[in-house]
Amino acid sequence: MVLWISPMVGAVSIIPLAFAFIFIRKYNRRVKSLYAGVRKKLGNIGSFVQDRLAGILVTQSFGRRDHETEKFRENADHFYDSSVKASRLRNTYFPIVSVFGFINNVIMLGLGAWLIMNDSSLFSLGALLAYRGFWWRLQSPIRTIAQTSDILQRARAAATRIMELLDKPVSIKNESDARSLGSVNGAIDFNEVSFSYLQGKPILKQVSFSIKAGEFVAVAGGSGSGKSTLLNLIPRFYDVDSGSITIDGTQIKMVTLDSLRKKIGYVGQDHYLFDGTIWENLIYGDPAAAEEEIFSAAKKANAHDFILSLQNGYETQVGQNGVKLSGGQRQRLSLARAFLATPRILLLDEPTASVEPESEFLIHEAVLKRSRESGGTTVLVTHRIDLLRQAPRILFFDQGRLAADGAHHDLVEGCSAYAEAYLRWEVEEANQISVLR
Ligand SMILES: Nc1ncnc2c1ncn2[C@@H]1O[C@H](COP(=O)(O)OP(=O)(O)OP(=O)(O)O)[C@@H](O)[C@H]1O
Ligand SMILES: [Mg+2]
Repeated sequence: MVLWISPMVGAVSIIPLAFAFIFIRKYNRRVKSLYAGVRKKLGNIGSFVQDRLAGILVTQSFGRRDHETEKFRENADHFYDSSVKASRLRNTYFPIVSVFGFINNVIMLGLGAWLIMNDSSLFSLGALLAYRGFWWRLQSPIRTIAQTSDILQRARAAATRIMELLDKPVSIKNESDARSLGSVNGAIDFNEVSFSYLQGKPILKQVSFSIKAGEFVAVAGGSGSGKSTLLNLIPRFYDVDSGSITIDGTQIKMVTLDSLRKKIGYVGQDHYLFDGTIWENLIYGDPAAAEEEIFSAAKKANAHDFILSLQNGYETQVGQNGVKLSGGQRQRLSLARAFLATPRILLLDEPTASVEPESEFLIHEAVLKRSRESGGTTVLVTHRIDLLRQAPRILFFDQGRLAADGAHHDLVEGCSAYAEAYLRWEVEEANQISVLR
């Protein structure tokens, strides 16, 4: 419209606006990396706080409060510095964009007035008034463009952080032709399985064994020999590098993750309880479970009595905002949760590694009883000597290789590495018991 009223005044007064757009583009480029930095530093603060809160007892017990406060301050300072940098740039940007608008106004008024005063046919007082009206109307869109572009840059920095996470390749996923795993008996076969977390550093080396449906098998070996890794491969928390794992003869790679994991109960050393009641935690794997089933699972895991001894029984709040339970009690709840889901295959990773002797006995008893009564398969990582003696079969791992396979007395005689390790565990346990006494 301004060009139509007076092409010359219109063209000249539009020049600063063109500069304003070039400036906005330049600003966007610079502010983009600043906003990305602000987001990253905010993320650092978040993960620092989460990590240090989880380990607050360690911090307190080592008297490292001041050190952690200092580290938090460093993180906060980095965030503060980059936020101030971004704010400074933003606070120079908006006035500069306004200045371009102002220059546009000055040119239009100055040139217009000069043309009118010189009686030029190119411009009139009416046109000048019309221009003034347009200018006012133009101010608001220019400001909006500047503000929107700034908001977009901030949103882009936030979205980039989210996308970084979402774009991470999903390495464990269903094959395109994966089918659902139907009911299983629980036979597990490892066929020449090799696995490494990092290329060139094999953790499991050509491991082969067969576990019959309903068998109770203990897995033993030195620290770092690959026992937890072995368990993690069965529910496909990781995929094997070579070889294959089958359940009842079906390759686990060829079935859907959900259907596979539903058949497997996994109780690790970290017995996590969600924020909620004991009841809610127990039914996590089977929300439709009937009351008798829940009580029965809790009884089998030797948890029912201690639950009833709590003031609110099954309605007791546990987890982050709930009552503090002992390690053994938490472990027994984890067991009950796994029992209730009635998995055909139960994987247990050192379930008594950090529990008091009374709970240890109750957990061992619960696991052995469940194995006898349910008919399901149990694979238990342990180096507790009483369990090793009772286990009908032990898979002994040494540096990622299956070094021996058999009952305790066979291994003591036939595998010197096992005999040595067993002696070590015996001494360790004897020391632990004498400390407790
Ligand atoms: N997520 C991981 N990324 C890289 N390396 C790992 C990872 N988890 C375990 N490892 C390495 O793999 C090896 C075997 O670990 P694994 O946890 O299976 O041993 P383990 O026999 O269960 O030992 P422990 O008795 O101490 O529990 C170790 O050297 C360990 O450092
Ligand atoms: Mg382990």
